[in-house]
Amino acid sequence: MNDIKIFVSSVLPQIGINMLREENFNVITWNDDNPIPRDILIKNAKQCNALLCTLTAKIDATFLHECSHLEIISQFGVGYDNINIGEATKLGIPVGNTPGVLTNATADIAFGLMIAASRKMFFMHKKIEKDQWKHFTPTSNLGIELNNKTLGIFGLGRIGTEMAKRCKGAYEMNVIYHNRTQNIEAEKLLNAKYVGFDELLAQSDVLSVHCILSEETKGIFSKAAFDKMKPTSIFINTSRGAVHNEEDLIQALNDGKIWGAGLDVTNPEPMQPGNPLLNMPGVAVLPHIGSATVEARNGMSRLAAENIIEFYKNGRIPHFVNSEVIKT
Ligand code: GLV
Repeated sequence: MNDIKIFVSSVLPQIGINMLREENFNVITWNDDNPIPRDILIKNAKQCNALLCTLTAKIDATFLHECSHLEIISQFGVGYDNINIGEATKLGIPVGNTPGVLTNATADIAFGLMIAASRKMFFMHKKIEKDQWKHFTPTSNLGIELNNKTLGIFGLGRIGTEMAKRCKGAYEMNVIYHNRTQNIEAEKLLNAKYVGFDELLAQSDVLSVHCILSEETKGIFSKAAFDKMKPTSIFINTSRGAVHNEEDLIQALNDGKIWGAGLDVTNPEPMQPGNPLLNMPGVAVLPHIGSATVEARNGMSRLAAENIIEFYKNGRIPHFVNSEVIKT
């Protein structure tokens, strides 16, 4: 495989790089923690057979046309909205991703954000830092308990199911969900009920978003949606920031249309330090760390490498996003 050059466009856990090198691929890596500038990405990709990238690399139509020679793009991540899949497919470029290995890590962040928002944890922590903790106050800073509340999942796939399992186990929450298609297996496992989108908005005490970002889901949580939610509800998003409209979310919180929010993804990313969401009592924000565990990131590195190795050795991609392009 010496003559096959792989460009890795982010600093990644070494396990995947080692796997590729052990198979004698010629691996060229970007060694800076800052995202690679676009011109350097294109320049390097042009000289390589394959690209291993993350969500910070914008693989749009322009990039794909400039680099249409690429034999495979392997995404380090389960989401691939940074890649124009339609265009990659048209150009016959197969794309792989890394599902499964980050499910628990991401569900943990959704679950943690739910608790943090419901008890105003991040906001109260800041009070200590600002020397504003003066005494015990029986009637202020009160949160909301989660026992027996209704959890609404928007996008009941792998991560949504794990979030629901946690909520059922810890709080005996009643699970409702909305999906493109019904998930019968998860329904049985969680005793979950499929509902229409408006019903999901109206009934959820906690609404947790686990969908992919697509034309259908972009901005779906906007004023019209928040207006239909309970004034006591908490909105959680650990999928992609563009699924919610951030201005509308701020407005909904200010107007008391919803009670709180937990975000691991923001719109745009990175969120700026002066963002009003950072100073709202029932809001907890994290900087996109859903998959940031040793186990998940090593797993992602391994799967991203496996997709490339299997493609060149056996003509198959274990985790294939656009399988319709396979030529072998
Ligand atoms: C991370 O956000 C991923 O999509 O893998």
